[in-house]
Amino acid sequence: MTKKLSFMLLAACGVTFSPLALAQQGHAAGPIVVQGAMPVEAERFAQRLDNPREEQIGGWRFWHGTLDGYPVVVSETQKGMSNAAAATAIAATRFHPVAIINQGTAGGHDPALKVYDIVLGKYSVSLGAFKTPKKAAGEGSDSRQWQPMDLLASKGSAGEDKNVHSIRQFPADAKLMAIAEGVKASYTRGKVVEGVIGSADVWNSELDRISHFRASYHTSVEEMETASAAQIAASFAIPFIGIRVLSNNITNQGKYDPQTGLACQDYVYQVVKAYIANAETH
Ligand code: 5AD
Repeated sequence: MTKKLSFMLLAACGVTFSPLALAQQGHAAGPIVVQGAMPVEAERFAQRLDNPREEQIGGWRFWHGTLDGYPVVVSETQKGMSNAAAATAIAATRFHPVAIINQGTAGGHDPALKVYDIVLGKYSVSLGAFKTPKKAAGEGSDSRQWQPMDLLASKGSAGEDKNVHSIRQFPADAKLMAIAEGVKASYTRGKVVEGVIGSADVWNSELDRISHFRASYHTSVEEMETASAAQIAASFAIPFIGIRVLSNNITNQGKYDPQTGLACQDYVYQVVKAYIANAETH
């Protein structure tokens, strides 16, 4: 009998099993996928895998390995929304992950957050999907007047549909959030808070625009991948969470520090270990 068939039969009989127990018995269990955009956001985690094997698919690198005996794939998505979406779709279709964690650096929108603080994304939003008001030649442009455009709201023209002007929220999986919350005490470099992650292929350094985003959409941080990866993970019904460390915060003069990307991977390493330990007992 194939592994997949026996897995399905077990499931059909109502037998409960953990992914780790299945993996130990030689049954197929999907990996946990950990995504990082840049080498400094992915390589440290990849180096901590047991029996790592690198695979190149298109322009993207994936490292397959295990952690505490459970399969983990580290994915270097590269920067930006398109890269994050593509890397997520590849991971979903090739590896059938049980969970996807998108992690890395971000810029602060909340002045109460300092460089090295970590945001557990209770949801993410796209800060790149808007419809501008009509303005005549010479009337200029003010991005604070733009309305959000929910590209998933209807199959018709988003430009004409009046019902698409609330921002789409991509929520974190509740179990992943609970596990991420549960390892907070392990982090000594800053505080860990729940918040909102805003994503776009834009690096915002206009303080009025940043405070507008925070006032309108409650963003804690901005970066360039989470909402995109979350959207694609949701299309495949794969549990997802975004976890971001502040590498910069111009709202409180927090200077850019790329080393924060290493600290975030160390935090996510604890999250993944806790997920695996939790899977073992259920
Ligand atoms: N704005 C946008 N992206 C940021 N990143 C870190 N800080 C910011 C910021 N303030 C991340 C993005 C992208 C790369 C440029 O760094 O996610 O991968």
